[in-house]
Amino acid sequence: MLESYYIEGGVPLRGEYRIKGAKNSALPVMAATVCRGGVYEIYDCPRIGDVFAMEEILKALGAKTRWEKDCIIVDSRGINEFAVPENLMAEMRSSVFLMGSLLARSGEAIIYRPGGCNIGKRPIDIHIDGLEQLGFEVESDDERISCKGTCRGGKITLAYPSVGATENLIMAALAGNGDTIIENCATEPEIADLQGFLRTGGFQVFGAGTDTIFVKGAGRESRNQGPENMMYFILEDRIEAATYMAAVLGTRGRAAFRNIRPEIMREVLGCFERMGARVRTFENTIEIWSPGRLKSPGIVVTQPYPGFPTDCQPQLMTLCSVAKGLTTVREEIFESRFTHKNDLIKMGADIETCGKNAIIKGVETLQGSEVCARDLRGGAALILAGLMAEGTTVINDAFHVQRGYEDLEKGLNSLGGIIETKRKKT
Ligand code: EPZ
Repeated sequence: MLESYYIEGGVPLRGEYRIKGAKNSALPVMAATVCRGGVYEIYDCPRIGDVFAMEEILKALGAKTRWEKDCIIVDSRGINEFAVPENLMAEMRSSVFLMGSLLARSGEAIIYRPGGCNIGKRPIDIHIDGLEQLGFEVESDDERISCKGTCRGGKITLAYPSVGATENLIMAALAGNGDTIIENCATEPEIADLQGFLRTGGFQVFGAGTDTIFVKGAGRESRNQGPENMMYFILEDRIEAATYMAAVLGTRGRAAFRNIRPEIMREVLGCFERMGARVRTFENTIEIWSPGRLKSPGIVVTQPYPGFPTDCQPQLMTLCSVAKGLTTVREEIFESRFTHKNDLIKMGADIETCGKNAIIKGVETLQGSEVCARDLRGGAALILAGLMAEGTTVINDAFHVQRGYEDLEKGLNSLGGIIETKRKKT
């Protein structure tokens, strides 16, 4: 349904908020329930569009699911399909993770080539190359990709530290008796969370968080004797945390965020501090405030973890649009992740882009306007702009944001933000 966000800007956000479970951890963990038939209780699972899409795919494969508050219970014992339905693939490209988990379960997997999206082509060549290096037979055409076989084990090296390919290949490497070493892995915290889930379920995976991961083949015999009622708590969402913190800084407010460990967002906190933010950190709480107008952080380049995360680049661009001075943001991860630029310019921002670079000249303030979300994080960046701007902002196509943030408007309301979602008056 076509909903829009309606925002009254200019209110400093104050108070406290508990960070929810990470979308980018919940999705691979839900896919991993396929690896072995069992009953899994996944706590702190965000209620967002992408999670519901993954839930539909699991059910189409034969799993049963139900929710109890923020816990999704997945019973994967009844999985008897190994082809992901085409219509559900289009819903969400992260279903590509299911290749690895279906191979671990059944030795076969058929998926439909996941589409690109507004931020880039999103190829899966590294996934396919890795599967072939592991010894699987992969056939692919423009639409379908089918793979089968067992993992012969050995050492493989990723051409690029792809997050999804690392997660997919960890699960595929379970499908055999050989032991596998994967080199040049991504080191994002979400990968360590997937490793934690797999190890809790009895698999032997080591090294996540470093660029080299060891996976012990799990053979075929144990495929259906999975755990009964295994509990797992999802990692907190460092990108949600960065988004809320940017909102507090952009509105010159002050807030404490619970359930977030500073060590998984060091680069982002460092950038905010370079802009003049004050940050106080405790074991798993972060307090942040802005003593006045922010200043430019200089040059910021998005990099694989632990570098500055691409998923925070749009939000940073919004903050820099009113910070004092000139900022250069270079987007090194995705080829078209400046979709929010024109809408920010419509609100009064001064931004020039050239290839991977965006040059942002800070202006005093933004003006409310009617704009449109074009992707998940770009939409979140426009919400921040609306909270910071003078007057009213309408952001159409709210669904882009709702697929990755649970009740973002409720969370911002709880900090004093004036924001609501309404059906767009056509
Ligand atoms: C994950 O996407 C995240 N999604 C993304 O978050 C995040 O931006 C990205 O990692 C980088 O951190 C989930 O975890 C569900 P990649 P993924 O494979 O796995 C290229 C969000 O907003 N590449 O690390 O798709 C690719 O095109 C989303 O929450 C290949 O060329 O990211 C991109 O340029 C957006 N071939 C770069 O690598 C491949 O086979 C990084 O992609 C795979 C990737």
